[in-house]
Amino acid sequence: MNKDLLSIDDLSREEMESILATARKDFLDLSRRDIKKVPTLRGRTIIDLFYEKSTRTSTSFELAGKRLSADVINVKADSSAVGKGESLKDTVLTLNAYAPDIIVIRHPHVGAPAFIARYTDAHVINAGDGKGGHPTQCLLDIFSLQREYGELQGLKVAIVGDILHSRVARSNIAGFRKMGMEVTLVAPPALLPRGVETLGARVSHTLDVLDDVDVVYLLRMQKERHGSTILVPSLREYIARYCVGRRHLKRGQKVLHPGPINRGVEIEAELADSGENLILQQVEAGLAVRMAIMYRIIVDAAALQDTAGARAVQAVAD
Ligand code: CP
Repeated sequence: MNKDLLSIDDLSREEMESILATARKDFLDLSRRDIKKVPTLRGRTIIDLFYEKSTRTSTSFELAGKRLSADVINVKADSSAVGKGESLKDTVLTLNAYAPDIIVIRHPHVGAPAFIARYTDAHVINAGDGKGGHPTQCLLDIFSLQREYGELQGLKVAIVGDILHSRVARSNIAGFRKMGMEVTLVAPPALLPRGVETLGARVSHTLDVLDDVDVVYLLRMQKERHGSTILVPSLREYIARYCVGRRHLKRGQKVLHPGPINRGVEIEAELADSGENLILQQVEAGLAVRMAIMYRIIVDAAALQDTAGARAVQAVAD
């Protein structure tokens, strides 16, 4: 792995497979043990810096760090000195003075994780930057799909909903394609990004296309990023055309959703409560995958340092 995980584009398919294998082999079953802790990152410090609301990502990163025995500090922007006007740069310089090993950041602005990586020696992990990317969500989604389907090459997925404002869609289109999957985006034209044809996915404006896919990936309407722009004529009309229920699914088709779900908007309540969705499996996967990411980012960096050290010693000996 690189020093930081800023984007899913930072990882090759081999690196993704390797992280997911670590999650599967070393961390998935930990939650079923009486003692849910391993000493792997004892003595390491992780700072979780969240400038946006979160349940799944913040909880699983905190729990992942604690289960790896690291010291974990959570900083929420709304209860920190950010509220007194401290800038992102000064916040990171301040936190960096504690010599953290990893900083996990969620921020409303695209590029914030890359920005803070300039001001810290810690490994930076992007936990969601505006509508930019959400690489750890992508990895946990691929992990969940592998558990359900095994090999993903050739698997067809439809991503349905507010693609325009979705960092999950951006990361997942790239990540799913890297795994050999065929991606179709389903949304009204106003909820698709400009230049959508360059993303390497097919586009549909109706749910009819669900007949032709193996997996349905639902996204919520991200009202908090719409501002004052009216993008759909009415929510009722959107629901009539894009809310997915069990009646839309073929036999064997599974539904994923990154959460939080809005019942009755993008997913019918009956589907949300049925065994046809993998939503809670995704949540479970999030913990194992984030443990694997933090473990690998530290261990791979240490291995690189050892190799560089050995080369330097060899060079002196030569
Ligand atoms: N999927 C996701 O990022 O959820 P949270 O916003 O609850 O972290």
